[in-house]
Amino acid sequence: MIARYQAQCQARVDGALTLLFVPHLAEVARLYEAMRYSVMNGGKRVRPLLVYGACEALGGEVANADGAACAVELIHAYSLVHDDLPAMDDDDLRRGQPTTHKAFDEACAILAGDGLQAMAFAALSDMALGRLSDGTRLQMVRALALGAGPAGMVGGQAIDLGSVGLKLDQAALEQMHRHKTGALIEASVVLGALASERANAQSLSALKAYAGAVGLAFQVQDDILDVESDTATLGKRQGADIARDKPTYPALLGMDVAKAYAHELRDQALHALQPFSSSAEPLRALARYIVDRRN
Ligand code: IPE
Ligand code: IPE
Ligand code: MG
Ligand code: MG
Ligand code: MG
Repeated sequence: MIARYQAQCQARVDGALTLLFVPHLAEVARLYEAMRYSVMNGGKRVRPLLVYGACEALGGEVANADGAACAVELIHAYSLVHDDLPAMDDDDLRRGQPTTHKAFDEACAILAGDGLQAMAFAALSDMALGRLSDGTRLQMVRALALGAGPAGMVGGQAIDLGSVGLKLDQAALEQMHRHKTGALIEASVVLGALASERANAQSLSALKAYAGAVGLAFQVQDDILDVESDTATLGKRQGADIARDKPTYPALLGMDVAKAYAHELRDQALHALQPFSSSAEPLRALARYIVDRRN
């Protein structure tokens, strides 16, 4: 079920994303090429799937979620381009291809990330991508800016880089993960809910509880796969966290406890969806997929 839903949503968001990389000037063709290279390269599109899933859970129209689906993937792609830079994780492989700074150069990768971030907000406010009120769009812009910025993902990346070689306790590790990965995942779910234009305080709070658990589970599984998977399956270097002495869940708790924790978080996410009918099936399937995935 998830495979078919994933394929449909991937095709939908990829169709909208691919239209964005048309250079308006020959002089910026290489920059656009670097942005396209960083986005149109086979990512799992988990964040757009969460946008569509949340919109559908509330009975909204999928077409109204296209702008948000593009926006969260553009922010995610920018975060990966910058995450891989020599000044950050210094990785040379992403989604099975050379990282953007390897395929182009560092300055071009920095600018591609900057460009993608701005394009995310352009997509979110693009009237062609969904028929939504100005008020809804403004709420979406704010939710994405907060989730992506220093109070969210960028803050988490700062904590991550400041923690290399340190032994964090579980509370500090959770705080880092909730920021660096959880915040954009929560924003994806909130944007999907807003795109339905049917969210109320109660449904939003249930969806945020779901997103909090799924967001943390996502990074716990990312840490587990860094140890257990292989480079070909991951499309990024296996063992990169260990090599760089990054604090991770398996390193702190041991592999068995880390896996049990990922499953507990999945169950918490499913529990949060109890008030919803079968319309939340895609979100339920995603929660299971996030801890079962192998890449
Ligand atoms: C990897 O994200 C980075 C993290 C936040 C853990 P994904 O596992 O979603 O990467 P892609 O988009 O599928 O390549
Ligand atoms: C990245 O976390 C989180 C981002 C905000 C990009 P990681 O550094 O663990 O992601 P990977 O393992 O390189 O994909
Ligand atoms: Mg990193
Ligand atoms: Mg990294
Ligand atoms: Mg990782």
